[in-house]
Amino acid sequence: MDENSQKIHYEMIHDDYAKHYYDPTSMEFRDKFMYKYLFKGLDLNNKKVADLASGSGYNSLALMKYFPKVQVFGFDISKKACQDYKKTVGRPAYEIDLTKKTDLKEEYDCAMIIGGLHHCVSDLEATFENISAILKPGGSLLMIEPNKNYFLEPLRKLWYKLDKYFEENTEEALDHDSLLFKQAQHFNVEKIFYLGGPAYFLIYNSLLFRLPIRIKKVVAPILLLLEKIYNLCPGKVMFPYFIAQWKKK
Ligand SMILES: C[S@@+](CC[C@H](N)C(=O)[O-])C[C@H]1O[C@@H](n2cnc3c(N)ncnc32)[C@H](O)[C@@H]1O
Repeated sequence: MDENSQKIHYEMIHDDYAKHYYDPTSMEFRDKFMYKYLFKGLDLNNKKVADLASGSGYNSLALMKYFPKVQVFGFDISKKACQDYKKTVGRPAYEIDLTKKTDLKEEYDCAMIIGGLHHCVSDLEATFENISAILKPGGSLLMIEPNKNYFLEPLRKLWYKLDKYFEENTEEALDHDSLLFKQAQHFNVEKIFYLGGPAYFLIYNSLLFRLPIRIKKVVAPILLLLEKIYNLCPGKVMFPYFIAQWKKK
């Protein structure tokens, strides 16, 4: 496996990714079906938050809206993402590979990783060592990742293989419970949600469905409404992503 394949991949698709994943309809999706759960019950004002696999920084911007006194810092393997982060957020961003041992000196009250962990499957152990090393005891680890227990997982695997927007050798959906089991020495789970219906695919992941932005604007209101209804389904196999809040011991 090429150690920098995720870097090469994300620098190559940078513009397409930013166009589809940070347009107003995707941001509305994130607001209603991601941040609301991810930040539930937390007060991150006056806290230092590491936004890991931060991309261009829009999650940090959202965090600053929720908690105006938060201090955010971006981290990403992609140079283009770090450059964008600094411009968009006006805060520092560091180019790092989370799967390689890093010697970051700073400690943070919270780390959030949105759609990033499943790109670190080449060495999840090292990734968690890095995350643990920068988190203070009692600090929060917030994550949103694709759910491996989703009933359409075989289809998703096939898609990862066939679509140029995936780097199939270095990414795969995650099983939250086995992830937690492996990290049980270091973390407790505080909250876990399983979510995702039609808007997760057609609005949030519109790039994969090649849905033009102008069409997204038209279909977003109905899909966002359907999403709310779909999320009433029970269990975890019906849902393509999970949102978890962990606490470092
Ligand atoms: C699906 S994007 C998510 C970006 C952003 N968090 C968001 O919500 O849009 C995955 C991000 O992970 C970054 N990434 C992939 N592998 C990484 C690694 N080993 N270390 C740090 N960042 C990585 C990519 O450059 C990309 O920005």
